[in-house]
Amino acid sequence: MHYMPNTADYLRRTIDRLHRMHPRPGVILATGDLAERGSPHEYRRLRSILNRLEIPYFLVPGNHDDREALRRAFRDHRYLSTFENHAGYAFDAWPLRIIALDSTDPRHIGGYVDHERLAWLDAELSAHPRRPTILALHHPPFRTGVPAMDAHGFVNVEALGEIVRAHPQIARIISGHVHTVLMRPWNGTVACTAPSTSPQFVIGRSRLGIGVEAAGMLLHEWNFNAEVRTYIARLESSDEQQIA
Ligand SMILES: [Fe+2]
Repeated sequence: MHYMPNTADYLRRTIDRLHRMHPRPGVILATGDLAERGSPHEYRRLRSILNRLEIPYFLVPGNHDDREALRRAFRDHRYLSTFENHAGYAFDAWPLRIIALDSTDPRHIGGYVDHERLAWLDAELSAHPRRPTILALHHPPFRTGVPAMDAHGFVNVEALGEIVRAHPQIARIISGHVHTVLMRPWNGTVACTAPSTSPQFVIGRSRLGIGVEAAGMLLHEWNFNAEVRTYIARLESSDEQQIA
């Protein structure tokens, strides 16, 4: 048993922080994990908290989630149910195209993509080769350098890498899972992981700990020069005072 803070309270404060941002982010991608055990009770609670959000949000399941329980609790999030075997989706409503790839499988703690998901992803990317795209998936596709995390592997990650390399419109790959910020070039794009909105993992060499570093999220700012800039927003930051 390890230290577990009140994650619901952290999430409420995350929402407050988002609402105070100026300008507000246009869309939120929650890259998971969304729950600890994937129980209906957890998703009801998650939903009751997220109901306060005044910004559109989309969910990406992680290895702690239960895809069917998540779908039942968020029935109106119909994008989660486009496919029977995975919760992938693509949205074209924003200048930066959003594609979410489901990297979960009940038999694996680590990442998992199969032929069906990869073929779908390749087709989606091929359909809009000039639309700058952000690709979200729970598991980072790169090795973290922490044996305890990397030991779980990522099934078919090489094939995923080939698809990513073939589609240079992918401006970012964003992931959750490791509760801290990691960033590296990967197959022609930049892949990164977000800090957790609650407990952080403290990654150092071969160790893995859990700690109380400031919680946060990544902000990806799109501008029309076809650039994406990524910032870290910490939960405990003071409100901005304009100085220039
Ligand atoms: Fe995870």
